[in-house]
Amino acid sequence: MRPSVLATRATFPDIADRLRQHFDVEDNPSDTIWPRDELIRRLQGKHGVMSTGSERIDAALLDACPSLKAVCNVGVGYNNIDVAACTARGVLVTNTPDVLTETTADFGFALMMATARRIGESERFLRGGGWTKTGIYDMFAGGDVYGATLGILGMGRIGQAIARRGAGGFGMKVIYHNRSRLSQALEAGCGARYVDKQALLGEADHLVLVLPYSASSHHAIGAAELSLMKRTATLTNIARGGIVDDAALARALRDRTIAAAGLDVFEGEPDVHPDLLTVPNVVLTPHIGSASVRTRHAMAALTADNLIAALGFGPSAGKPLT
Ligand code: DGY
Repeated sequence: MRPSVLATRATFPDIADRLRQHFDVEDNPSDTIWPRDELIRRLQGKHGVMSTGSERIDAALLDACPSLKAVCNVGVGYNNIDVAACTARGVLVTNTPDVLTETTADFGFALMMATARRIGESERFLRGGGWTKTGIYDMFAGGDVYGATLGILGMGRIGQAIARRGAGGFGMKVIYHNRSRLSQALEAGCGARYVDKQALLGEADHLVLVLPYSASSHHAIGAAELSLMKRTATLTNIARGGIVDDAALARALRDRTIAAAGLDVFEGEPDVHPDLLTVPNVVLTPHIGSASVRTRHAMAALTADNLIAALGFGPSAGKPLT
């Protein structure tokens, strides 16, 4: 009997063909997010799933889908998956590290720059017909990036890649905070200096969040942390919604206790806190940090490889979470 797998979203045709060499494949050409009961129904009799951050894979789902042996997530983050519940039931979990590191770092840097230099606000102004005269000194004057202090919270592969961009190309002083300090060699390689979280918040001109979401990072940036930041500072979140208290951030932006924010991820996305939609000094993007064509294809290809290996067709026993 050929194993059956479910791809919860539309995937690239060549990736679907590759999966079909080994499996009976059901995919989702409409690319809508299935309601949970529909997901569970479609997972009946499936041995593997190519999941995304939009699907919550927890104990209740696993118990309702006993044939499932592999959960292969398209993404480096896997906070949507209860890994302990999977492990307890012998279900292998994989993710897609490495292939998206540089692309996501590019995006984080771009969003930080757009935030600092007020690109969203000024584009809306131009499109709205507001450009009738040019103000020399005050028209969308933002904060400098070159030579400024870049603060990074979370110093995994993507954090290090952002640090390299800041220290190398932009002459930035780079400071970071992380659960564990990097080795001296890694710090030297990305030109970053370790500081405690309080110093990071107080010293950064531009703070970028690149840490994984977990119970311990929930609201790691809330009202108290925002109050420690400079009034001229920016905050960029390319990590996960829930790391920032969005309501507190909207208040800080409205009251200008920080200058601006760039957000690619949100609590409860695709919904966005309504107060964030009404403040001008925030750049908002729909969770597209890794979305270059090449990288999204590489993520799908790696996930297919993981699924093939995990269900016993590949050269290894799957690429475990790293
Ligand atoms: C990731 O890789 O975790 C991205 O956020 C896409 O979900």
